[in-house]
Order: sequence, then structure tokens, then C-alpha cells
Amino acid sequence: MKEQLEKIRQKTLEALAEAKESADLEALRVKVLGKKGDLTALLKQMGGLSPEERPVMGQLANSVRAALEEKLTEKAVELQAKALDKQLQAEAVDVTIPGVAVKTGHKHPMNKALDEVKDIFVGMGFTVVDGPEIELSDYNFTKLNTEEGHPARDRSDTFYLTDDDSVLLRTQTSPMQIRVMEKTKPPIRIIAPGRVYRKDEVDATHSPMFHQIEGLVVDKGVTMTDLKGALENFAKALYGEDAVIRFRPHHFPFTEPSCEVDVQCFECHGAGCRTCKGEGWIELLGAGMVHPKVLAGCGIDPDVYSGFAFGIGLERAAMRRYCIPDMRLVYENDVRFLSQF
Ligand code: DAH
Repeated sequence: MKEQLEKIRQKTLEALAEAKESADLEALRVKVLGKKGDLTALLKQMGGLSPEERPVMGQLANSVRAALEEKLTEKAVELQAKALDKQLQAEAVDVTIPGVAVKTGHKHPMNKALDEVKDIFVGMGFTVVDGPEIELSDYNFTKLNTEEGHPARDRSDTFYLTDDDSVLLRTQTSPMQIRVMEKTKPPIRIIAPGRVYRKDEVDATHSPMFHQIEGLVVDKGVTMTDLKGALENFAKALYGEDAVIRFRPHHFPFTEPSCEVDVQCFECHGAGCRTCKGEGWIELLGAGMVHPKVLAGCGIDPDVYSGFAFGIGLERAAMRRYCIPDMRLVYENDVRFLSQF
């Protein structure tokens, strides 16, 4: 029996040395020390020993059991430590690796330009108003003294939405003049930014959709001097004190007299280049004194009140402001371009 005990001890220690995982240990414990284990089975045979031998063997068996239990526990601790090490290594994080920078967006140059223009006019006491892009022909043309048959109403220029041409995508923000004057009594001082649509081919300075900012001032005693002062103030605030602008006589049906305002080309400073089509100047806005017929049509007495209006092409203003040579860049949304602003 002594040899058998020794054999169990020996074999268990050998198996223990080879155990790789906690599960192996558990299996070994059951096999040797469990209810049906080798050692237990051996102890059951103790009954067959002589009374002298029994306590000696009992003691020996207990010490083998205790020794094996201790070894099993030791090995369990060792395997657990190894497993933990392995896990820690696998899950190790190198906190010194630089992180991936989060790319943050920013305002589109058009919105930056729009915000600047708004700020300038708000600083002069203007209010910002908004209006519909789907507009009645009445508001887009007729009430702006642009009668039926006028070339601006041609189907080749305008996106009409109905067969009778009574509804369209507004071709200008000027209908906002009418909408404001019909609802508000003077003094009026508003700007109305927004999208406008025309059947234009895309090129460096044209797009079928673009943005305008309409301006309207109506009060007693408003003159062309006020118009010139306000627009000169605006141009210098946007482009800097050294910006060069010029007023050129022009015709618009809804203003009399009318003018166009140009800024000197940012590429060639007036010499003439591709951007300004050799002109040296870039058209920035149209303006004029509100036509008496337009005022009267909105219920404002032209003998008491006068006003001026203007329409700024936002793309051209932004292009001049940020030295962008081609309008297509503004719409393509190429981040290599946009990230420069
Ligand atoms: N609506 C005109 C255009 O699209 C621009 C314009 C000219 C607006 C003169 C005005 C103005 O308010 O007075 O070309």
C-alpha cells in the first residue's frame, strides 16, 4: 500500500508538472482526490490492514493528500498568474502612440462671406429677412415694373414651374422688395439673402443657381447720395479701405435712375485678365432709386417716400473677397479647396 501511495504521489506530481491550464488541474484533482479518485479508492482499502498498520498508513495517506492539495493550489496560482500575464500582454495599450486627430469642419467660404455681408449691413441698421425661392411671376416681374413680354421673362432664361408661367423659381431676390413693402410701412431698411435660379450655362462666373442679397431702404427724403454712401461703405468694409469701386449708369425696370457697381479686379488690379474678361473690373451689384410705380404698387406714396434698392451677387462678392478665380470651385465641395478658408 505504501508503494501504491508513493506511485499515486509520483504520478500526480508528474501530471501536475505538465498541466497547462486551470481545467487540467481540476481534472487532475477529481481524478486523484475526488470521491471516486485514486487516493480515495486506496483509502477505502485501509479496512483490510492490521490495527498496527492502519494509523501509520492513515497518517501517510493524509500527508500525501495534504502535499498533493498544496501542490495543486500552488500550481493553480501559478497558472492563473500566467493567464493574467498573457491577457495583459494581449490587451496592452501603448499610451505613447499619438492619437488620430478628429477632423473638424468649418464654415463654407460662401457662408463666411454671407455672414460678413450681413454683419456689415446689420451694423448700418438693416434687418435680415427671408423669403420664398418658389415665387409668383407677379412678384418676380410684374410688380417690379417688368411687364409681360419683357425679355427678362423669356422661357429661355427662367425656370417656370407652371404651363401658364405664373409660378417660377425666382430669378432674383428683388421680389422680396415687394413682399416687404406690401407688409411694412416705411421707414424700411432690410436685406434679403437667398438662392436664385436662371437658365445659365456653368462657367467660371456663371451657375444656374447662385445667391443674391437684396437690399431696400425706403423713407422720407432718401436720395442717390444715400445709395452711394451706403454701398461705398459696404464695399470698403468688405474689401478694405483701399478697395476701388465705380458706379456705372445702367437700366433696371424697377429702379430709376439705376446703376451698376463694379470693384477693381483682384487678379490684375485693373489691367485686364481672364478673371475679369479683360475688363479690369468685376460687376458686384445692381442698384438704383426705387421706381415710383413700384412704390405706388405697394401702397407707398411716391410723393412722400423715396428709397433705394440694390442686389448683390454673393458668389462674385465672395470670389473677390477670398481671391477665388473660378465660381465652380465654390460648388464642387472639394475639401482640398475648402480647407484653405
Ligand atoms: N435684381 C437685379 C439682378 O438680378 C439686381 C438689382 C438691381 C437689384 C438693381 C436691385 C436693384 O434691387 O435696385 O440683376
